[in-house]
Amino acid sequence: MLFRRLFDKLIRIMNTENQKKLAAEKATESVQSGMIVGLGTGSTVYYALLKLGAMVSEGLDIIGIPTSEGTEKIALEEKIPLTTLATHPTIDLTIDGADEVDAHLNLIKGGGAALVREKIIANASKEILIVVDESKVSRVLGTNFPLPVEIVRFGWEATQTAVNRICGKSTLRQNTSQDEDASPLITDNGNYILDCHFEGIRAPEAVEMQINNIPGVVENGIFVNRADQVIIGTSSGIQYME
Ligand code: 5RP
Repeated sequence: MLFRRLFDKLIRIMNTENQKKLAAEKATESVQSGMIVGLGTGSTVYYALLKLGAMVSEGLDIIGIPTSEGTEKIALEEKIPLTTLATHPTIDLTIDGADEVDAHLNLIKGGGAALVREKIIANASKEILIVVDESKVSRVLGTNFPLPVEIVRFGWEATQTAVNRICGKSTLRQNTSQDEDASPLITDNGNYILDCHFEGIRAPEAVEMQINNIPGVVENGIFVNRADQVIIGTSSGIQYME
C-alpha cells in the first residue's frame, strides 16, 4: 500500500515535470537572435534557461536580464550573456512562470520570492510569455495559492496587521533550506515576504492597488494585464491562453 502510494506520487511528480518542460521549451521557440530576453524565476523557467543555454551554444545571439539571483546563477552556468536594465531599459521578450493563472491571464506570482524584480522586468517588457503546468490554472485567483507580498523589515508586524485587514490572515514566510535554522526568508532585495491567505481574489486589480498602498509594502504578487500569452503544459500536450 505504502509502495503504491509512493509510486503514484513519483508518477505525478514526473508528469508535472514533463508539463513544465513542455511549456518552457515551447516558449523558447519565440526567442530570436538580437533579442533582450527577460529571464523569469522558478522550476518551470529553469527548463527554458537550459534550452536557451543550449541555443546560445549553437549560435543564438541574445542577452538576458535575470529576475533573481538564483536565475542569474543558472544563466551564468548556462553561459547566457547577461545585461542590466540600466544598459538595456527595454526588454523584447520575457519568459516567466506563475503560481496561479486565471482565464483573463491574471496571475499570482512570487512563490519563488522574486515578485518585485519580476514585476519590474514585466513592466519593461514588450512581450511576456508565462509558462505553467496544468495545476496552475485556476478559476479564481487566491483559491489555490496564497498571495505573496514583499514588505520591508522595519515595523513588519504593523504592516502585517494592515495587510491582514485586506486578506484576513497572512504568515511570514520562513526559510525552508535544510542547512539553515528556521528564520524569516530574506528576499534578494533584503525584505520579508507575507503569504496572504485569501478565500479567492475576485477583483485582482483593486486588491493589487489596495495592498500596494499600505506603507511598508514593497510590492505584491498580483499581475493584472501583464501576460500576452500563457503556455500550459498538460498531460495531453500544449494549450494556450491569450
Ligand atoms: C517566483 C515566481 C515563479 O515564477 C512562480 O513561483 C512559479 O514557480 P514554479 O515554476 O517553480 O512553480 O513567481 O517568484
